[in-house]
Amino acid sequence: MSFRLQPLPPARLNRCQLFGPASRSALFEKMAASAADVINLDLEDSVAPDDKESARRQAIAAIGDIDWGSKTLSVRINGLDTPFWYRDVVDLLEQAGERLDQIMIPKVGNAADIYAVDALVTAVERAKGRQKRIGFEVIIESAAGISHVEEIAAASPRMQAMSLGAADFAASMGMATTGIGGTQENYYMVREGQKYWPDPWHWAQTAIVAACRTHGVLPVDGPFGDFSDKDGFVAQARRSATLGMVGKWAIHPSQIALANEVFSPSEAAVTEAREILTAMEEAKRSGAGATVYKGRLVDIASIKQAEVIVRQAELIAE
Ligand code: COA
Ligand code: MG
Repeated sequence: MSFRLQPLPPARLNRCQLFGPASRSALFEKMAASAADVINLDLEDSVAPDDKESARRQAIAAIGDIDWGSKTLSVRINGLDTPFWYRDVVDLLEQAGERLDQIMIPKVGNAADIYAVDALVTAVERAKGRQKRIGFEVIIESAAGISHVEEIAAASPRMQAMSLGAADFAASMGMATTGIGGTQENYYMVREGQKYWPDPWHWAQTAIVAACRTHGVLPVDGPFGDFSDKDGFVAQARRSATLGMVGKWAIHPSQIALANEVFSPSEAAVTEAREILTAMEEAKRSGAGATVYKGRLVDIASIKQAEVIVRQAELIAE
C-alpha cells in the first residue's frame, strides 16, 4: 500500500491509433476522415531510407495543410540508433505548425533515451517560442525496453502513451515467430490430447500496463499485422482491454471500427457500472462498505472499477 495517489492518465480517447507512411501523402486525407482517435504519420519503418527526407517534408506540410479535426496528431520519428532521428525532431519542431500534438519515439530502451529527446525538443520549443508543449508516446519493442519499462514511463512529464510493438519485440527477444501479434501456433499447452493456445504477449502487456498506471500514462496495444484476420484482431484487442489497455493500433482502415468497438464500453456495461455506483451509494448511506448486486459482492473496490467504465463512457459522449 502506498500513501501516494495513482495519477490519472491524460483524459482523452485513444481507442484506435491509425498509422500511415508519411511517404504516402495520398493516404493523409483518408486518415483525417477516419474514425480513429489518434493519427500516427510514420517516418520510421514503413518509409524506405531513400524516402526519409521527402516523407519528413510531406509530414510537416500535412500537419498544417490538412484538417485533422479533434484527433490527436502524432508523428513517429526514427529510432535513436539511426542517423535520421535528430533531423526528424529538429525539422518537426522548427517547421511544423502548432497542430502537432505528439511525437512517437520507437525502440525506446531506457529512460536516458527519453531524456535525450526531451532535451532536444525542449531547446527547439524555447528557441522557436512554441506555445503548445509537445507530448511523447513511446513504443516498447525490445528486451531492453521491457526490462526498463517502469523508468521509461516515469522519464518525462511529456509522457502521454506507451505501446507494445509486437514485431520488433519478438525479434529482440529472439522469439521464434514472424507474426505481428496474435496467437502463435507453437505456443501451446496440451491437456488430454487437446491443444490450448495461451497468449505469448501477456507478460509484456501486463508489465506495460503496470508501468503506465503507476505513472499516469496511457497503455496501448500495438499492431496486429494480419489485417484480413478480423476475429484474431478482435480477440487480441479484447485481451488487451481486459488487462487495462485503452486502445490498439490500426495498420489498415479495416481495423479502425473493430478497435473502436472493443475499447468503447457497451451500453450494458455502462448501465451496470452506474447501477453498481448507485447500489454502493445506498450501501454507504446505511453505513455498509459492501452490498449485494445481482447476487454478487460489490464493495468499495467495485466503485473504482465502475468509475473506470463510466469515465470512458463520458469521454466518448463528449
Ligand atoms: N490509412 C488510411 N487509408 C488507408 C490506409 C491507411 N493506413 N491504408 C490503406 N488505405 C486506403 C487505401 O488507400 C484504399 O483506399 P481507396 O478505397 O480509396 O482506394 C483502401 O484504404 C483500401 O486499401 P488496400 O488496397 O486494402 O491497402 P493498400 O494495399 O493500399 O495498403 C498497406 C496496405 C498495409 C500497405 C497500408 O494499409 C499501409 O501502409 N498501412 C500502414 C503501415 C504502417 O504505417 N506501418 C507502420 C506501423 S506498424
Ligand atoms: Mg517497430
